[in-house]
Amino acid sequence: MLKATDLHTYYGQAHILAGVSVEVRAGEVVVLLGRNGAGKSTTMKSIMGLVRPRAGTVEFQGRRIEQLATHRIARMGLGYVPEERRIFTELTVLENLEVGRQAPRPGAPTWDFEKIGRLFPNLREMPHRPGGRMSGGEQQMLTIARTLMGNPACVLLDEPSEGVAPVIVDQMAEAIRGLKSAGVAILLSEQNLHFAMEVADRAYIIEKGAIRFSGTMAALAANAEVQAQYLAV
Ligand SMILES: Nc1ncnc2c1ncn2[C@@H]1O[C@H](COP(=O)(O)OP(=O)(O)OP(=O)(O)O)[C@@H](O)[C@H]1O
Ligand SMILES: [Mg+2]
Repeated sequence: MLKATDLHTYYGQAHILAGVSVEVRAGEVVVLLGRNGAGKSTTMKSIMGLVRPRAGTVEFQGRRIEQLATHRIARMGLGYVPEERRIFTELTVLENLEVGRQAPRPGAPTWDFEKIGRLFPNLREMPHRPGGRMSGGEQQMLTIARTLMGNPACVLLDEPSEGVAPVIVDQMAEAIRGLKSAGVAILLSEQNLHFAMEVADRAYIIEKGAIRFSGTMAALAANAEVQAQYLAV
């Protein structure tokens, strides 16, 4: 589905990603774990063409995308939900969702308000609420929901649990499991190992711009040494 190979990304002179490779297969939820500043967001931005890797390749559904513009990558069905929530505060929930709507895409599930409401019951209750009058967690859900309106085959979720209330974190985990069963492949970034354990099939650990661990969640759960070395547990 999605395969990034040997990415090298710089901000100015600073060598931030030093050969990052990650892969998401169809039907998988994969988590990129790492502490603050490890390179999680830079990996996602490199995949989306928001920062241009100086070297490395990105393949999405068998096509090379590392030279493409971000909007073209999104149009191919690779969704991206950045760390900072970007909803339109003046627009209602329904209007925010309309902004994200794209044509149905073969090989990916198609979304509408009803289906989204099953994934995010909170949003179903407030179709006419302006984005600016929602809680942080609800805004986070709306950001994800708007990306889904583009009918993506795969979604990059940058720290969906960050800064949200515990009850919303549980709902977020439930929604990610729902996305997986709907057939959307997911790469999410996290610092929260507990949350990752709830949703992911496989994990990569990134530190100082390099992948230090790759394996199943069971393998990571059993590896206290790796957890202690690279994660805040
Ligand atoms: N626009 C930028 N210009 C210069 N350096 C940057 C920029 N964005 C990030 N960095 C640096 O690149 C490194 C990786 O940052 P990145 O945002 O990818 O980390 P992260 O794993 O997403 O961290 P967090 O969990 O805090 O979101 C950090 O050292 C950061 O300071
Ligand atoms: Mg980040």
